[in-house]
Amino acid sequence: MDPLKQLISDDPSHSHLMELLASLCQGAIAVDQDANIVWLSDAYRELMGLDANQPVVGEPVTSILPTSYMPRVVKSGKPTFVDLMQINGRWCVVTRLPLRNADNEILGAVGFVFYDDLDSIQPLFDKFARLRRKFEHEKLLRPSKYALADLIGESEQMRQLRRQAERAAQLDTTILLLGETGTGKELLAQGIHQASPRRQGPFVGINMAALPESLVEAELFGTAPGAYTGAGQRGRTGKVQLADGGTLFLDEIAEMPLAMQAKLLRVLQEREVEALGSNRLEKVDVRVIAATAKDMRQLVDKGEFRADLYYRLNVLPITLPPLRQRSSDIPQLSEHILRQIQHETQLPPLVLSASALQWLQQYAWPGNVRELRNRLERACVMAEGEQIEAADLGAQDDLPTPLPEQNSRPASLKNRQQKASCEAIFEAIDACHGNKTLAAKQLGIGRATLYEQLKKCQN
Ligand SMILES: Nc1ncnc2c1ncn2[C@@H]1O[C@H](COP(=O)(O)OP(=O)(O)OP(=O)(O)O)[C@@H](O)[C@H]1O
Ligand SMILES: [Mg+2]
Repeated sequence: MDPLKQLISDDPSHSHLMELLASLCQGAIAVDQDANIVWLSDAYRELMGLDANQPVVGEPVTSILPTSYMPRVVKSGKPTFVDLMQINGRWCVVTRLPLRNADNEILGAVGFVFYDDLDSIQPLFDKFARLRRKFEHEKLLRPSKYALADLIGESEQMRQLRRQAERAAQLDTTILLLGETGTGKELLAQGIHQASPRRQGPFVGINMAALPESLVEAELFGTAPGAYTGAGQRGRTGKVQLADGGTLFLDEIAEMPLAMQAKLLRVLQEREVEALGSNRLEKVDVRVIAATAKDMRQLVDKGEFRADLYYRLNVLPITLPPLRQRSSDIPQLSEHILRQIQHETQLPPLVLSASALQWLQQYAWPGNVRELRNRLERACVMAEGEQIEAADLGAQDDLPTPLPEQNSRPASLKNRQQKASCEAIFEAIDACHGNKTLAAKQLGIGRATLYEQLKKCQN
């Protein structure tokens, strides 16, 4: 006869003892030295969602609870007095004790589960949840990669921007990054995080424009276990909670649905967050950096963005200058990007020809540094020699390569007219930041005509 079975069920006094223990908790289970189930209380059955007559005695405990620690307890002989475990989607406190005979040999183990009256250990749950979030974050999210020094440029605007960012990093206030597309808002946000006292904490970014409205709430604030079909038994940790102790980067903030704005306001005002479907407020410690290329004031005036949230976000606005206002940075920036591309692609080094550089410095850069990168990438592929020419940058299909000076013979009227109309076209395209449809409209010509004319200008 198995000595453990004997211990538990044959001796009436022991059996009584087990029942007494079981009555004190919300589930009890006993396993033998191989971690096979020898006994379990009715409450445990219920907790596991097992049928009353489903035979489980003799089965490995992991067959009903794959994450069970009981095999480890019988192997190590060490008890775990208090542990937190999720059983069937419910957080429980569990106690596991090895059972030994008189010769101190391990016979098996018993486990007790508690989930009622756990209010007194709520702080423990919170702490555990925080640690778990930290772990998840480290596992799932890329750490912030960039430092402020990665913002290239020695123009006065860039120097000022870096100085401003340094100072802002030290203050723990909300920051609003403003600037056209591709000016480096995300890069700056990461740089500020790296320069801030929160650098050891997580940097968690979320792009409001990339999420369908229906997912924003769950993604940002998380979901309680079983909050809605599809949320899963375990629930989901929101980005706000994941950023606890660090920086939350809200990219394209202008796209945030109005309904979510109130919830974000609470995070900023009260430092509290409520997961979807839960009725518990959790404290979070995050610094928010928001970014947008849109005119927030205008959105507020139109009623598309909450004024109270705007004021909360606009505590410390930082504006990134467009590339065309700091064209002195273009040579250094291009060199830096070219080196990056060469490093990534292992292509042989290429240099910019004088005319290519000239073109880069007078182009209007509607897509700013991102566009510069794209054009240089393209050029690295297109270039045939060791030099990148203006044509490799796509100069001819977009904007002005400066017209070669005509020789000294007086130009014909036709040529002069052509030159004047080219200048007008380039000027209009520049003024419209490269948007040709808009430029055509301003010139009072059709888009097709504009393209036709442009072609002539480039011949
Ligand atoms: N000053 C800079 N020095 C070096 N690289 C830069 C600089 N500014 C931007 N970049 C690079 O340009 C690209 C675009 O930058 P980023 O994604 O930060 O722009 P953004 O302002 O967030 O644009 P969007 O509004 O379109 O999201 C990135 O590859 C980034 O590394
Ligand atoms: Mg961005």
